[in-house]
Amino acid sequence: MRDKVTTPAIQARKDGPKVTVVTAYDAPSARIAERASADIILVGDSLATVVLGYENTLSVTIDVMIHHTAAVARTKPSALLVVDMPWLSYHLSVEETIRNAGRLLSEGGAEAVKLEGGRKRLPMIGALLATEIPVMGHLGLTPQSIHTMGGYRVQGKQTDAARELVADARALADAGVFAIVLEGIPDALAQIITQEVSVPTIGIGAGPHCDGQVLVFHDVLGLYDGHRPKFVRQYAHLADAATEGLQRFFADIQAGTFPSDAESYHMDKQVAQTLQSLKGERESDHA
Ligand code: KIV
Repeated sequence: MRDKVTTPAIQARKDGPKVTVVTAYDAPSARIAERASADIILVGDSLATVVLGYENTLSVTIDVMIHHTAAVARTKPSALLVVDMPWLSYHLSVEETIRNAGRLLSEGGAEAVKLEGGRKRLPMIGALLATEIPVMGHLGLTPQSIHTMGGYRVQGKQTDAARELVADARALADAGVFAIVLEGIPDALAQIITQEVSVPTIGIGAGPHCDGQVLVFHDVLGLYDGHRPKFVRQYAHLADAATEGLQRFFADIQAGTFPSDAESYHMDKQVAQTLQSLKGERESDHA
């Protein structure tokens, strides 16, 4: 049993070892992430696309996030349990933000929240931290901004946009977030941000220089057949293995070889014989 991973422990990893992060959305995926010794399990709002079949992350609600976070929390992982605040759960007011984040912790069992955006989120982040709710930032390609970005596009490729992102990252770190996810930005920009902020950066599509890396569970294990961005490295092909397993199961059903004797329950031979001998009686009852 390893030590519980905490937000201060993650914050202290700026000088290594690298922070390992993977998403999980239910008890089985959380147990696998935990067995593999993830530092952080993130109940990402990617739940919307990879598990619930929506086109983007905008449709997932606070209640759905709580439902899935609670399933992960019931596995009692040693990994730090971070949850995404879904779109519109932290945009309307400071009060709404605290109420929603509080529910993710008190009803869902999360230990920290993640929210997307830079300096414009500082009032919400400050209020969350004042309420003792640890916050992880998320900058760059922020999927909840799909419509303002005009699609899932790499961000910060030009000087001005890159400078804005550096300023956002510094502001989040100064505000007190314990780590920042950098998504879909050039590797050189991620390297500069990583050098300039005091908290660990966690990259996804942001090159190798971040202080940690995160991928979506279904992408890394080959369970998602939607679009696969170039930054995804597949370490297993579980959908193929699962399909093959089910095909063999169905073939055994057709062949009559499933279930076997060992896979069946048995009764006393005498009772079975008596039942067989009463068969004629039952048939005449039904005639
Ligand atoms: O929703 C998510 O899965 C995420 C990570 C990929 C960073 O935000």
